[in-house]
Amino acid sequence: MEHHARLPDPGADEIAASESLRAAICAAIDAHDGFLCFDEFMARALYTPGLGYYVGGAPKFGAGGDFVTAPEISPLYGACIALQCRQVFERTGGCEILEFGGGTGRLCASILGTLAETGSPPERYSILELSPELRERQRALLERDQPALLPRVVWLSEPPASPICGVVLANEILDALPVRIFHLAHGAVLERGVGYEGSRLVWRERSAAAEFSAIVLGRLECAGTAAAGPYVSEINAGLEPWVADLARFLDRGVALLADYGYPRREYYHPGRSAGTLMCHYRHHAHDDPLWYPGLQDITAHVDFTAVAEAADEAGLAIAGFAEQASFLAACGITDLAAARLARDFNAAHALANELKRLLLPSHMGTRFKIIALARGCAEPLLGFELRDDRHRL
Ligand SMILES: C[S@@+](CC[C@H](N)C(=O)[O-])C[C@H]1O[C@@H](n2cnc3c(N)ncnc32)[C@H](O)[C@@H]1O
Repeated sequence: MEHHARLPDPGADEIAASESLRAAICAAIDAHDGFLCFDEFMARALYTPGLGYYVGGAPKFGAGGDFVTAPEISPLYGACIALQCRQVFERTGGCEILEFGGGTGRLCASILGTLAETGSPPERYSILELSPELRERQRALLERDQPALLPRVVWLSEPPASPICGVVLANEILDALPVRIFHLAHGAVLERGVGYEGSRLVWRERSAAAEFSAIVLGRLECAGTAAAGPYVSEINAGLEPWVADLARFLDRGVALLADYGYPRREYYHPGRSAGTLMCHYRHHAHDDPLWYPGLQDITAHVDFTAVAEAADEAGLAIAGFAEQASFLAACGITDLAAARLARDFNAAHALANELKRLLLPSHMGTRFKIIALARGCAEPLLGFELRDDRHRL
């Protein structure tokens, strides 16, 4: 983690936008008697129209942005996902893809390219995108890289009203859902929220409501973490409704949810006593979400056991759980890499770098996981054939 002194200075326009957002957040704090639960703060910091991090104009992705995701690192990532999609299409008869939060459009471009090459392009590829600026970037990239398939791509601003049959993709979406923060101190559960003093946002704590406290203690007990503290962590408040909604429109097929995170026993491990909240600003990671709201990404790791519980509750089957490296290996990433090398030997250096970043434990290989939630699709799924860690959930 870095301290503010080492973060790059935002420009004057950025600071002005952040100050407008801070003023709106302070008004919300006043409306909530001086204490805004962290999930409310995070939702405002990320999604306030025109000012929130994901819906403002910041570049976010890639070298000029704040972070890099797997589809940005290599088209091989999307190619592997495409091969998993093709298997789901064959097994379910579905031929549709819905992607949550399309980033720069690269995941869509590599999936469409691979499926077209293998003779099974989807009938429709929908991107549920909250950011108007990202929609335009996605359209421009697809116009350039997949012009023939562009007519199959549609953009949505909310989940589909009619059921879909095929694949739902959510790459690094769950980590952006707003979380609540708890602080266990001397056996008491406190909820951590946000207040302000003068022009500064500050942390506030108050006794947790009985229902929230019971959820916290249940999770810690499950993980074998003693209830004495001090211990700070998060509960992903938006996860259950998000999965319930998914179950509403996934008629037949598989949802592949990829993100960084752990099964519950590791998430709430006694050693992880400061939680998993992380902020990203121009490729610097730090741990202060109150720093310039709207200018930085705010994320928390995913409790994959909570995803599995929510799926179970919503009537979806858990059809696989694996670390990114083993999922990609099972989908044939080494064969795909060899084929690219055969086409273009000059790509060797770039290719080695992409594989290293996607597969090694010191990069994304093990910290990132993929969970498959299914309805009406036979197992085993391609990506979990080498290794399936469902027993860890
Ligand atoms: C870290 S980015 C990942 C983007 C892209 N999937 C990728 O891997 O490059 C997180 C994205 O999640 C989107 N997002 C968060 N909550 C969402 C929701 N409920 N519905 C759709 N998109 C959402 C944000 O707008 C943002 O584009």
